[in-house]
Amino acid sequence: MAKKEIDQISGIETTGHEWDGLKELNNPLPRWWLWTFYATIAWSAVYWILMPSWPLLTDYTRGIRGHSQRAVVIEQVEALRALRAQHGADLADAALEDIQATPRMLEFAMANGRAAFGDNCAPCHGAGGAGAIGYPNLNDDDWIWGGTLDDIHQTILYGIRSGHEQARFGDMPAFGRDGLLDAQQVRAVANYVRSLSGLEVEPTADLALGRTIYEDNCASCHGDSGEGMREVGAPNLTDPIWLYGSSLEAIIHRIEVGGGGVMPAWDQRLDPVTIKSLAVYVHALGGGE
Ligand code: HEC
Ligand code: HEC
Repeated sequence: MAKKEIDQISGIETTGHEWDGLKELNNPLPRWWLWTFYATIAWSAVYWILMPSWPLLTDYTRGIRGHSQRAVVIEQVEALRALRAQHGADLADAALEDIQATPRMLEFAMANGRAAFGDNCAPCHGAGGAGAIGYPNLNDDDWIWGGTLDDIHQTILYGIRSGHEQARFGDMPAFGRDGLLDAQQVRAVANYVRSLSGLEVEPTADLALGRTIYEDNCASCHGDSGEGMREVGAPNLTDPIWLYGSSLEAIIHRIEVGGGGVMPAWDQRLDPVTIKSLAVYVHALGGGE
């Protein structure tokens, strides 16, 4: 050990460490720092005794308080379940209109419906219910089967062409495939359908023929002027909203192969409160009637 060296300017002893001529002063640690340091050591000792802390070979020290985060979470989840069950019980007995009119129930139904929609409906109808080809947009005010709370509730409960005995049902015949109309007739009526919503038609289109074919084959479901029919799920052909697309090819294809989109029934898969919540949620998406 080198003998103690005193810094000439400050008069404080140095540690003897030197870097490029700079020497470190051996100042004592500040009191406050030292006491904080002792306090943390004392705190850790207390913590080891009270709380789970040290890992053992197959277990860990549990501490005399026996605290467990897992137990706390289980307790919180239980409390949440109880709260949900209580809210749910209100909804189970309430009419859809009353749920919608009561802010407390509405809030619960919307949160519940939104979650259930994401889990069960979004794969087909899109995350925000915007739909896709063959899967209707649930945000607009155009409804194939009806947009009142009760209509939507029924659609969700029993589905569409789902095989459920109360399912909504109505199939469009495969006019082309089954030889009910030949290719020229299909083309003519497809052009006529496009003309119903003001879309451009082929210059060679025979609209008079198309109209006759329409009146004979299509009006029974789609209505005399193409306004659609909810009883059989025949879409409105006069508006700019299309389930399968508005191009001439898409319409010709539809007339050739007919139609029958399937939506599953949910009455056996989801509980009644969730289905009610979904009806209220879908109704609120933007286009409820
Ligand atoms: C497997 C795909 C699929 C799933 C999952 C699905 N749907 Fe549908 N849904 C459809 C199809 C297809 C249609 C349109 C059927 C048709 O062609 O008329 C439809 C139609 C609807 C309609 C009627 C729309 C109208 O214009 O009348 C509502 C309401 C609806 N679905 C809500 C839901 C809700 C709520 C869920 C979740 C619980 C859900 N759907 C889950 C495929 C699905
Ligand atoms: C028995 C009832 C019925 C008859 C008759 C019928 N349709 Fe349909 N049509 C439907 C149904 C139901 C759908 C919806 C299919 C679906 O949801 O998958 C539909 C869908 C369509 C679509 C698709 C609409 C869209 O929004 O994408 C077109 C186009 C169409 N029909 C044209 C016709 C034409 C043209 C005829 C006559 C040649 C006709 N339909 C006859 C029931 C019928």
